[in-house]
Amino acid sequence: MHTGKARAYTNIALIKYWGKKDEELILPMNNSLSLTLDAFYTETTVSFDPALQADTFLLDGQLQNTAATAKISRFLDLLRELAGTKLRAAVTSENFVPTAAGLASSASGLAALAAAGNAALQLGLDDSQLSRLARRGSGSACRSIFGGFVEWEQGTDDITSLAHPLAANGFENDLAMLFVLINDKQKDVSSRDGMRRTVATSAFYPGWLASLPEDLAAIKQAIATQDFTALGRITEANGLKMHATTLAAVPPFTYWSPQSLLAMDLVRQLRATGTECYFTMDAGPNVKVLCRRQDEAAVQQAFSNSFSSDRLILAHAGPGISYL
Ligand code: DP6
Repeated sequence: MHTGKARAYTNIALIKYWGKKDEELILPMNNSLSLTLDAFYTETTVSFDPALQADTFLLDGQLQNTAATAKISRFLDLLRELAGTKLRAAVTSENFVPTAAGLASSASGLAALAAAGNAALQLGLDDSQLSRLARRGSGSACRSIFGGFVEWEQGTDDITSLAHPLAANGFENDLAMLFVLINDKQKDVSSRDGMRRTVATSAFYPGWLASLPEDLAAIKQAIATQDFTALGRITEANGLKMHATTLAAVPPFTYWSPQSLLAMDLVRQLRATGTECYFTMDAGPNVKVLCRRQDEAAVQQAFSNSFSSDRLILAHAGPGISYL
């Protein structure tokens, strides 16, 4: 039996990954840039075991259904191929979230699985190789291999598409992100389906892509010069632009709910009254609010007037993967 265990933290993109140029290899249409966060992480154990007839996947104590297990199995196939083994595996994952928010993260999940598999099969992959591997499970997972600010270079093939950490200057430690968890009854459009539909049909997609080099250059400059105002403005505008592409897809869709709009409005009000903060959103109704660490208490307090406190989770910059 070959066993490995690893932990990976989730990340939130400030410049979004939205669209693939290769669905099989998960090569993105654009570079993206994220901040790894300390509040949510996944711990995963993988055991390749001759006694097993099939792969099994236990998540937070629950045996997962065929579809969820098949996704994990496809990723395990990549590990098996690298190790030259046919052994089936038992995967046990736990998502650590400060509240029962039902917040699952494919980024931390697939990054932890890649690292646990690396350890179990003694593949000896370094973090760059691991980033490439995690990417094959879920694009954003390639960024969760590293801590702090991380850029995913889109690359042109399996070898060149991977993430790397930006040179650390301590700026990330001055930041906080408040997760505003929003309940929503709408049927989800997964990020995978949503971005596919957007690339294929949205009239706004070419405009989104054309605007990215400028956003990326500007945000890297903001990080290098520790310019919070620029960082926040670019983050908020980039997220809004990504979400605008979904409105022009055929058929159109949106991840925004009325509560998301309320949260965005609150951010604008806080800014207008002198507390500088900015929002971003991903493939769901939750809103993430970026602020300076020194303002986190004021931001959290303001949100607690409109959202119950168990729906508010404060996060700070987090580390890359660790082997357990
Ligand atoms: C909106 O990485 O979940 O969060 O590669 O299909 O697994 P797949 O998609 P995923 O997409 C993340 C999209 C996003 C933006 C981002 O994290 O960059």
